[in-house]
This record gives sequence, C-alpha cells and structure tokens, in this order.
Amino acid sequence: MAKPLMCDPSLFERDLSGATYVVTGANSGIGWVTARQLAAQGARVVLGCRRMDQAQAAIATIHEAHPDADLVAYRLDLGDLDSVRSFASDVLGACPRIDGLVNNAGIMNTPRGTTAQGFESQFGVNHLGHFLLTDLLLDRLKDSAPARIVCLSSCYHDQAMGRDGDIHLDDPNYETRPYDGWEAYAQSKLANLLHAKGLAARLEGTGVTAVSVHPGWVRTNLIRHSMPVWIQDWIVAPLMRRRGLIEPWEGTQTTLHALLDPSVPEHNGAFYSQTGIYRDKAAAKGGWPLRSPNPRAHDAALVDQLWDLSERLVGGAGAASA
Ligand SMILES: NC(=O)c1ccc[n+]([C@@H]2O[C@H](COP(=O)([O-])OP(=O)(O)OC[C@H]3O[C@@H](n4cnc5c(N)ncnc54)[C@H](OP(=O)(O)O)[C@@H]3O)[C@@H](O)[C@H]2O)c1
Repeated sequence: MAKPLMCDPSLFERDLSGATYVVTGANSGIGWVTARQLAAQGARVVLGCRRMDQAQAAIATIHEAHPDADLVAYRLDLGDLDSVRSFASDVLGACPRIDGLVNNAGIMNTPRGTTAQGFESQFGVNHLGHFLLTDLLLDRLKDSAPARIVCLSSCYHDQAMGRDGDIHLDDPNYETRPYDGWEAYAQSKLANLLHAKGLAARLEGTGVTAVSVHPGWVRTNLIRHSMPVWIQDWIVAPLMRRRGLIEPWEGTQTTLHALLDPSVPEHNGAFYSQTGIYRDKAAAKGGWPLRSPNPRAHDAALVDQLWDLSERLVGGAGAASA
C-alpha cells in the first residue's frame, strides 16, 4: 500500500493569527485534529458539535497542549435545520470574518432513520445540513476572501461496499425504494463532492475556493454503526495498517492541504484524495487533486440538479448565486 500523502511541512509553520475557521464535527476524529492544528498555528477555531460536553472535552484536550489556543464551540445538529440556522447565527454574531469552513461532520452506514425535517439521515446530516450551513455563512466567507470551503467526501462516493455512488433525484430519501445503509452513504458522499463543484461554479471570481476531499481510510469513530469502535482499534487496526488504514493525523492531511496549500485556488471544485479503495485501481493511489473515477462526479447537469433539489429541500437558499 502506498504511503499516505503528507502536507508540505512549511504549511504548518504559517502563522494563522487573525484568521477564523469553522469546523463541523470537531469533537472527534478528523475534525478534532483539524481544529487542533489550525488553533496551534494561531487561528481562531469555531467548533460545531451536537454534544456540547464532548465539544468542551475536545477543547480542554487541545488546551492541554496549546494553552493559548482560541477555540469556541456552539451547538450544531446537522440533522435539524433549525439547529443549523441557530448555529449559523451564533457564528455570524461571534465572527467578523470566516477564512475557512470545513464541512467535516458525518455519519456512515446508519440504520434507516430520518432527520428532524424527515430527510434520510445520511443525506440529511452529511449533505443537506452542510448545504444550508454553507449558504448561511457564504456572504461572510465572500467578505473575508480569499477564503476556502472544504467538503469531506469519501472514496465511497464512487462505490461503497459494492454499491455505486449515485444521486437518486426522484427519491433521495428512500421513501419509495428499500433502504440500504451503504448505498445511502455513497449517495451522501457523492453529494458532498458535487456540492463543492456547485459552489466552485457559483463562486467563480469571488476569491472563495471550494473543494472536496477523501481523507483516506482513517481510524476514527465513524465505523461505529458497522462494528464496535474497540474492535476496530484493538483487533482490526493492527492488522489493517498494511492494507491502508491510517491514523487521524495522517487522515487530516488532505483537509489541511485543501485549506492551507497556496496551489488549491488553481483547482477550484477539485476532488483531493488520500490513498483509497476505488474500482479504478489507477485512482487508488490518491492524488492532490485527483480525477474521480465515478462518471457521475463529472456530470455538470447532476451538479445543478442536486443544487436545485437541495435548495428546495432546505427551504430556499440564495447567497451562492447572489
Ligand atoms: N474515517 C474514515 O475512514 C473516513 C473516510 C472517508 C470519509 N470520511 C469522512 O470524514 C468526515 C469525518 O469523519 P471521522 O472519520 O472523523 O468520523 P468521527 O470521528 O465519527 O467524527 C464525525 C463527527 O461528526 C459529528 N456528527 C455526526 N452527526 C452529526 C450531526 N447530526 N450534527 C453535528 N455533528 C455530527 C460527530 O459528532 P458525535 O461525536 O456527537 O457523534 C463527530 O464529531 C466524515 O464526513 C466522513 O464521512 C471519513
């Protein structure tokens, strides 16, 4: 297995004082490491978390190593659009500028469930919640340009456990077809990639760059609906390291590259991928950026159809086209 791609070390020497980043799902896994690194470099970091006790614990752990880190948490449940609106209002009230938004939070292969507004859980949390949040913060990002939006997708946007990644425009919420947890994850992660493309097209000339990333196969809590996390950590991880499983610090490199590397604005809308499992073996090595092996990821009509559907489902959004 190829070694994980790592950021240019000079990116971590950059002084980020004065910059503000918003990271969703920042109490755990890749989001937590992202918040820690940005704060260590002097940035103000806003953590969007659904469990405030976990958010405060995450902040406390970062403060142990970086006592001066400027971190603040507000409650965000991406499965409830009212909570998304309330979080956006907290952020806009507290942050005169936003230099980067990391749409990181996610759930994978959950049992059938619905969000507060009745959307299928993975489509609702992973995509629709972030779609609305991005729209609500977009004017502030534009005013702070150059700024970046990073959407956490996955190599499973292509194929997840044998299920092809596609957007089911006629039934995104599994109301008329049997539910499949992996297929729904693939749909939501393709939506994350297409969201970044849709943003990039609409933000042309604004100085705001939007990209999607696959962080690699990373040892985090994401696995919890498929196997107990302790089995992953104690039994699977030691065996799977050679098959490509990486640690959270390695899995955060793609996000940090997308946020900090000066070359990224030249690739607005691109998909940045750590090593991963793809049906196209040439893509398994990953790349910064990488051409997605899924033809649906290059379907410009689908980008717009998903955008229109998402706008309709979240009840109107307009900052991107304003
Ligand atoms: N790990 C991988 O191998 C891998 C591979 C490809 C893509 N990704 C993507 O990477 C991103 C980060 O995942 P991770 O691996 O770091 O997993 P993780 O450790 O489980 O972190 C996910 C974060 O999302 C939060 N979250 C879940 N539902 C939420 C909701 N309704 N509202 C707000 N926050 C919510 C979680 O909060 P709680 O702690 O409260 O649950 C947690 O903070 C995800 O988008 C995932 O799809 C991961």
